[in-house]
Amino acid sequence: MSWNTFGRVLRFTTWGESHGPAIGAVIDGCPPGIELAEADIQPFLDARKPGQNKFTTQRKEPDEVRILSGVFEGKTTGTSLSLLIENKDQRSKDYSEIANTYRPSHADYAYDAKYGFRDYRGGGRSSARETAMRVAAGAVARKIIGDVTNLAYVSEIGGDRIDPANFDREEIARNPFWCPDAEAAKRWEALVDDARKAGSSLGAVVECVATGVPAGWGAPVYAKLDSDLAAGMMSINAVKGVEIGDGFDAARLTGEQNADAMSPGEDGPEFAANHAGGIAGGISTGQPVICRVAFKPTSSILTPVASVDRDGKATEVRTKGRHDPCVGIRGTPVVEAMMALVLADHMMLHRAQCG
Ligand SMILES: Cc1cc2nc3c(=O)[nH]c(=O)nc-3n(C[C@H](O)[C@H](O)[C@H](O)COP(=O)(O)O)c2cc1C
Repeated sequence: MSWNTFGRVLRFTTWGESHGPAIGAVIDGCPPGIELAEADIQPFLDARKPGQNKFTTQRKEPDEVRILSGVFEGKTTGTSLSLLIENKDQRSKDYSEIANTYRPSHADYAYDAKYGFRDYRGGGRSSARETAMRVAAGAVARKIIGDVTNLAYVSEIGGDRIDPANFDREEIARNPFWCPDAEAAKRWEALVDDARKAGSSLGAVVECVATGVPAGWGAPVYAKLDSDLAAGMMSINAVKGVEIGDGFDAARLTGEQNADAMSPGEDGPEFAANHAGGIAGGISTGQPVICRVAFKPTSSILTPVASVDRDGKATEVRTKGRHDPCVGIRGTPVVEAMMALVLADHMMLHRAQCG
């Protein structure tokens, strides 16, 4: 059974392949009366689109979105929203060499083992082209969550971390890495460029912080805000780890070190720390919701790696074509979109039960 739908109340379904004529999303459950036009969605797609600098893939996709349904006279009607992006820059011949072999650490073997069929052009449905539709759907989710601000940035590339003392929010959009630390961004230029020239690739950590989330979003047990965030982030291509708040570091703290001490404040309790990442018992506490996402290094690399072909014979794979040397960079707007989608879903879920 394929599974192409995400969400509980705000549900979106994506469709399409990397080298098909188009990709699209259908969003169901969007409240009526929200002002929505292509111009609200396009800036987020422009942030994710490929070919913008030498640190990302050179595939040139304009990623122009069209709204096909669900909007009338500039406002959502409450019926299903349909979004479409045409694929413009496919080069299927780039992939002819891997038609009969499996790129190690990509989805090629697993897809073939499951389906017995594989659209090898660009990885078909396993291509991160699909994430453009999450970004488009995320722009709609942002309209639903209103005042909640949601910011993602890269905090680490190839094991080289930002210095939190250098954190500058304005810097994030000034460099090609979504990096809040100008010094780290300078170092990463050489790091990523060297990896690209060497036919290699690098991993990255992306952090996402949502502020303005009120206390009460989320639900006990099987619809925890943190478990839905983890599922959403983990569903992004190349993501291999998700942490909420201090995540794995919390396991190295004592109870008193990890406590988010509370005191009375004018608008409800105040917290002395946020080790929990704004979520307790699966429900938001009113503190910033903090999520950290680990992207593995791109599996399609020019360096030869041992593999097998479709007949089970030993071979070597050297992936040519246009690939991101560090997928976490273009993954950053996708992380931000998934955070918005999960929050919008939980905002509506909360309203449905608690009014
Ligand atoms: C924005 C983005 C761009 C990506 N670009 C590439 C790429 O150019 N080449 C590649 O091999 N993988 C790329 N990936 C990762 C693959 O899509 C992913 O590794 C593959 O589908 C296998 O899935 P898995 O890594 O989640 O197991 C990209 C991922 C993201 C999020």
